[in-house]
Amino acid sequence: MAGSESRVVATRVLDAVLHHGRSLKAELSNALPQVPDPRDRALVEAICFAVLRQPARLDAALKAWVPKPLPRRDLELRALLMVGFVQLDPMRLPSHAAVAATVDAARALGRAHQAGMVNALLRRAQREGLPTVAAHANWPQWLRDALARDWPDEVNAIIEAGAQEPPLWLRVNVQQGRREQYHARLQAEGIEAVDDSRAPDALCLRTAVPVASLPGFAQGAVSVQDAAAQLVVDALQPLQASSRVLDACAAPGGKTAHLLERDASITVTALDIDERRLSNVRKTLERLQLHERARLRAADASALDAWWDGTPFDAVLLDAPCSATGIVRRQPDVLLHRRETDLDALQLLQARLLDALWRTLRPGGVFVYATCSVLKAENEAQVEAFLARTPDAQAEPLDERFGRISGAGRQRLPGENGYDGFFYARLRKRDASGG
Ligand SMILES: C[S@@+](CC[C@H](N)C(=O)[O-])C[C@H]1O[C@@H](n2cnc3c(N)ncnc32)[C@H](O)[C@@H]1O
Repeated sequence: MAGSESRVVATRVLDAVLHHGRSLKAELSNALPQVPDPRDRALVEAICFAVLRQPARLDAALKAWVPKPLPRRDLELRALLMVGFVQLDPMRLPSHAAVAATVDAARALGRAHQAGMVNALLRRAQREGLPTVAAHANWPQWLRDALARDWPDEVNAIIEAGAQEPPLWLRVNVQQGRREQYHARLQAEGIEAVDDSRAPDALCLRTAVPVASLPGFAQGAVSVQDAAAQLVVDALQPLQASSRVLDACAAPGGKTAHLLERDASITVTALDIDERRLSNVRKTLERLQLHERARLRAADASALDAWWDGTPFDAVLLDAPCSATGIVRRQPDVLLHRRETDLDALQLLQARLLDALWRTLRPGGVFVYATCSVLKAENEAQVEAFLARTPDAQAEPLDERFGRISGAGRQRLPGENGYDGFFYARLRKRDASGG
């Protein structure tokens, strides 16, 4: 029964994500703490990601092998069958154990009457292999069209990158030691890593390990963060000593923490509209021993009257809410849940945040606008429109570490150098003398 438990949990998570519009991250964070064995937790996660990286292929197998479409009451069974299929391909778990545990899971889910069917379909998948379906079938048509418009030469690479398992990137807390020192600590533990020439605090692990087994993790020596996300803090550099920095959309706190790690003289005001997510920022900063230089506030960053005392910031970071189309490999359910109409609302919100937050920046100060999107409407077009309506804003160049030039900013496309997709723009507020 032990093996079936992880299949049951994975099925429930996937049923919620595939059929009830829930987010994978939220479902996993509810479900995983109830799974006592860390190996089972890792298995649940691996199964869920394997399913959500190729739902079109699994659907094609079901369409081919199940004569009638499954009724609504059997959507959980659909999720369970997908859980079964991915264990055979691409996970390549020992097939006898995988099939047996999945059939047991059918019984544990109160579907003993369908256990024979589950067994037969998994045996068939084992014999015949799953059909081949191109990765682009997982992307909604409107999003494929938007990509083809924005990145006609790169669209296939972007879609392929979305189906890949991303590497595990670490960010070394340089308040506790240099990257080389942490690299040596990993080596001493037999964990192989490579450093990165563009992101100065980043190490990429050759094989992922559970975070709890990273040396010094609990004491704050290191965090998990993609190298493209780490570069956001580099786009703000150099900061003057003792700068007051605003991180306007801060949760779960990766960039707030990185800012504080980089420079022990600065203080950061970290806002987020979501109080629950803001509590994760607090926990992260406490683990990293950085909380004393941060001021956390739950607020709508665009409603200045609600949170701003009128004292200008030296630097502002807007890591904006966005379509997350640059991080599909980490959040594959983006492709299931994102609607074309969401984009209009996101663009309006981004513009509102840009306009309001610009007012909080002192003349001469620097403002970074970043997203984990690959859509130009949220990125270069958003910045271009902002520059056109904001006479005291001036774009400053970023170098090729930040990816290819995209309007006044730079775009890193997903998969390049093993990075997530990200957009960065650096803006300067002219001071009174026009400089
Ligand atoms: C891309 S995430 C930020 C990631 C974060 N900077 C990090 O590095 O961990 C965007 C965040 O914006 C927050 N958000 C959305 N609308 C907001 C608003 N009006 N004011 C403040 N935060 C907002 C969301 O709750 C979400 O946490």
